[in-house]
Amino acid sequence: MEYDITDVELHEAGRRRIEWANRQMPVLQLVRQEFAEQQPLGGERIGCCLHVTSETANLMRTLKAGGAEVALCASNPLSTQNEVGASLVTDYEIPVFARHGEDRETYYNHINAVLDIKPTITIDDGADVISTLHSERPEQIADIKAGMEETTTGVIRLRAMAADGALKYPLIAVNDANTKHLFDNYYGTGQSTIDGILRATNTLLAGKNFVVCGYGDCGRGVCRRAAGMGAKVIVCEVDPLRALQATMDGYQVMPIADAAGIGDIFITVTGDRSVIRREQFELMKDGAVLGNSGHFDVEIDLPDLREMSTTIRTVRPNLEAYQLEDGREVFVIGQGRLTNLAAAEGHPAAVMDMSFANQALCTAYVAGLSEPLAIAVHPVPQEIDERVATLKLQTMGISIDTLTPEQEEYLASWKMGT
Ligand code: ADE
Repeated sequence: MEYDITDVELHEAGRRRIEWANRQMPVLQLVRQEFAEQQPLGGERIGCCLHVTSETANLMRTLKAGGAEVALCASNPLSTQNEVGASLVTDYEIPVFARHGEDRETYYNHINAVLDIKPTITIDDGADVISTLHSERPEQIADIKAGMEETTTGVIRLRAMAADGALKYPLIAVNDANTKHLFDNYYGTGQSTIDGILRATNTLLAGKNFVVCGYGDCGRGVCRRAAGMGAKVIVCEVDPLRALQATMDGYQVMPIADAAGIGDIFITVTGDRSVIRREQFELMKDGAVLGNSGHFDVEIDLPDLREMSTTIRTVRPNLEAYQLEDGREVFVIGQGRLTNLAAAEGHPAAVMDMSFANQALCTAYVAGLSEPLAIAVHPVPQEIDERVATLKLQTMGISIDTLTPEQEEYLASWKMGT
């Protein structure tokens, strides 16, 4: 078996982490059991580009249990947990191509190593496999039944490809399932971003001016958790509706030009580039902390900051100080890459349980189709989304009400009024 990881000797620590995560992923466990019995993925080769974490490891185990051949590479150079890669290779015989801290060339070599298995299905987090296939290996696309995309940024890229007429195989936007984005993006990014800030800085959030750029599902989650820790939250938005929601949720809303000089901590979660750039660095207080929880490392303009800095030094793991010409220092978490994965462990397993149950059930759906899907970006089938919600509630021991026949009838009729 071919693989490329940092150190196979780390496998025992990795296995313990994978088992701990598995305990908190009961829905994925049920899917794995069903897959082992029914083998819905027999004959499929699944090429995965995901954060190499203990939660992802449990998805890989599930796909393999369903009869698929799988291979995994990283979807971010700083999110790989080396011990998890070691355990997947050693304990679960799943090929992994990922080294924490890998450079850009290695990152793309690893994507190509996964594509060498000639996938029939792809699973992406950020669409780098899809984009590599389209730009460099288009001859492989004919063999691909469909792909799944995990994250908002990836789905935006895919919709841009579809709009351009460039998309050449069908994709399912797993991110957009309700049991994904309303939970993973909100609770997951909320908690794990705070976790990353605290691990990198050990700073007190209470009383701090905490600026969040972007009020989508992820931004909302970050705001809620920061407010819960006693921070004074300021939201910067470009969308009037979201800005209004942020206002009525109780946060201060202002342009980044105004927030730049008063923020103590800044988190970008917009999915766009250069959200914090030269003009803002010029205004920042000495000691300001900057982190990004959007998928790519483009939201904080680090090339600008590097140019403006006289020295850059590492002050703690995952925290670099940039000293500006006038002596002020600003601190950047995890090189501007995903704060929650670079400086912490990503979203907790209990929330990835739902995201990855969606991923696994979508692969079985794609593998079982008698007619190929149209070349487009498709939603997760509603039955899958509802099944994940139902199973999650069941595994949490929560039962809910059902409508009485009278109530059903009332909802279906339009005649009864005042
Ligand atoms: N994305 C965010 N958190 C994650 C995790 N723990 N594992 C895999 N992908 C993630």
